[in-house]
Amino acid sequence: MKEPFVIAIDGPAAAGKGTLARRLAAHFGLPHLDTGLLYRAVARRLLDAGKDPSDGAAAEQEARSLRPADWQRPDLRTPDVDRAASIVAAEPRVRAALRDFQREFPAAHGAVMDGRDIGTVIFPDAPVKLFVTAAPAARAERRFRELQGRGIAVRLEAVEAEIEERDRQDATRPVGPLEQAPDAVLIDTTGLDPDQVFSTALEKIRARIAPAA
Ligand code: DC
Repeated sequence: MKEPFVIAIDGPAAAGKGTLARRLAAHFGLPHLDTGLLYRAVARRLLDAGKDPSDGAAAEQEARSLRPADWQRPDLRTPDVDRAASIVAAEPRVRAALRDFQREFPAAHGAVMDGRDIGTVIFPDAPVKLFVTAAPAARAERRFRELQGRGIAVRLEAVEAEIEERDRQDATRPVGPLEQAPDAVLIDTTGLDPDQVFSTALEKIRARIAPAA
């Protein structure tokens, strides 16, 4: 069976993956899935139900009953969901439940998928893998501005501490940790604006898809 065309984008929080993924999806006419939203949706449902995000059995149940409406909610990027999603994402049963869904997503039309383990675990054979990162201070600054823009009052130092803690959790969990696949192309977005990130990515993708062209 022919493998679907997948552009896998991984990297830490607030590195610019989401913006890049949406632009690449529009450019190539591919569906886009921000896989972080799946973990966020599981976290949101647990919080709404008054359950403990570290209750693995409850988290698995929520992951298995997720519906598109759950990850299309507007309230998935709040600080409480940031924290709970990071806990939920460390639960192997949740990762297993979401893995099958992620693997089926590109079947019909291919996809651009962004997350932490797309190029390592979900699609280790993806033809294009990007690892998008930036200096922690640059990521904290972006996240800070994004939260401010949405009227959420936070201090920059608190955002920085939170980003560092989430990096640590993402990188050290035993299942699906954040790591660069050996064949992923690295893009450091520190000091780049979204247009520069997009054109850098396009150049690298073209080189990967048609190395001889
Ligand atoms: O990218 P994000 O901040 O929306 O991700 C939310 C949480 O889910 C974060 O703690 C990392 C985790 N995550 C993951 O473990 N695997 C993915 N493929 C995507 C996100």
